[in-house]
Amino acid sequence: MAPYHIRKYRESDRKWVVALFSEGMTEHIPTAFRHILKLPRTLVLLLGGPFALFLVSGSWVLALVASLGLLAALKFLAKYPWIQFKVMSLHTDMSDISESYFSESGSCFWVAESEGQVVGMVGALPVKKHAVRKEQLELLHLSVASEHRGQGIAKAMVRAVLQFARAQGYREVVLSTSALQYSALALYQRVGFQKTDQFFFSMIHRLVALPFIQFTYRLPSAQGFRAGLRPHRRPTPRPERRARPSRVGCPTRRPTPAGPPPRALSPLRPRGALGPGDTLLFPEDQPGLKAAPGRGRGDSDQAQSWTPGAKRARAHCACEPN
Ligand SMILES: CC(C)(COP(=O)(O)OP(=O)(O)OC[C@H]1O[C@@H](n2cnc3c(N)ncnc32)[C@H](O)[C@@H]1OP(=O)(O)O)[C@@H](O)C(=O)NCCC(=O)NCCS
Repeated sequence: MAPYHIRKYRESDRKWVVALFSEGMTEHIPTAFRHILKLPRTLVLLLGGPFALFLVSGSWVLALVASLGLLAALKFLAKYPWIQFKVMSLHTDMSDISESYFSESGSCFWVAESEGQVVGMVGALPVKKHAVRKEQLELLHLSVASEHRGQGIAKAMVRAVLQFARAQGYREVVLSTSALQYSALALYQRVGFQKTDQFFFSMIHRLVALPFIQFTYRLPSAQGFRAGLRPHRRPTPRPERRARPSRVGCPTRRPTPAGPPPRALSPLRPRGALGPGDTLLFPEDQPGLKAAPGRGRGDSDQAQSWTPGAKRARAHCACEPN
């Protein structure tokens, strides 16, 4: 597995980014088709429709043609939401990425580069509906090339967005993804996002029972304040107990060697999520610092050379146009 680094988008990346985005959307079509085929209403339609036609016309050929026609219509329904979203994005924010993501502060677009190729992408735009500026930052278009998946690239990119949001003073990072994007669902929960809403993007999505799930990540500075929680207190270390000699001859548990108390984990913070004292380092900001090559799924966060656990690093996430 080749090393990668995350950097800001450049105009020369456009063809990679568009290809990556298209691939990331269209790959869900087969899953969506299988999902539609398994819906009870589809089964009723697929079996009942042609059968009813056969009863009325007495022609098996007509029933067969109707079945094939229905299957083609279902395939179209499976494709439509993804293609629609792709076309809409390519005509809106992604029609001119530099203009959409770099003309104002508070937004950014990153790519992951490996061996001179763009292998990952993610964008972040402020949610405009809020009167208060910098309330919510929306994470958009996260995608990693299929042959580079499972190396922690997406996780690193999401964390880049979180760090950026925090440095820019946003209170929350939000995003929505469909219930069929299983890898993305797992990733967002792993990073510490919480499900906050579920909705249908359009009538077609409702028809094919394909809901979108909204995720929210409350940034640590805002968490305690918004939830009305007191700051988490580090538990006072208890005086160490002396190991008692066993009375029945079983080996006693060895006393734990004295050391610093374990780091208190906030109850609001899932494993791997950013915490109040945590900062991310951008490899491009740190000379000679690159993400460790060849991380497979399941490696610990510490395996990367830049992690949320990297303490007291510069809280820096510049995102000016190149
Ligand atoms: C979703 C996607 C970006 C993940 O990219 P990736 O680089 O493989 O993800 P990572 O290696 O960083 O995985 C990070 C975490 O996500 C979870 N995850 C990612 N893919 C997973 C999978 N296939 N199965 C289970 N968990 C998965 C794991 O918890 C993983 O953490 P771990 O390795 O510590 O266990 C990628 O699959 C993709 O581009 N999909 C197509 C486009 C898409 O659906 N984008 C989402 C837009 S909302």
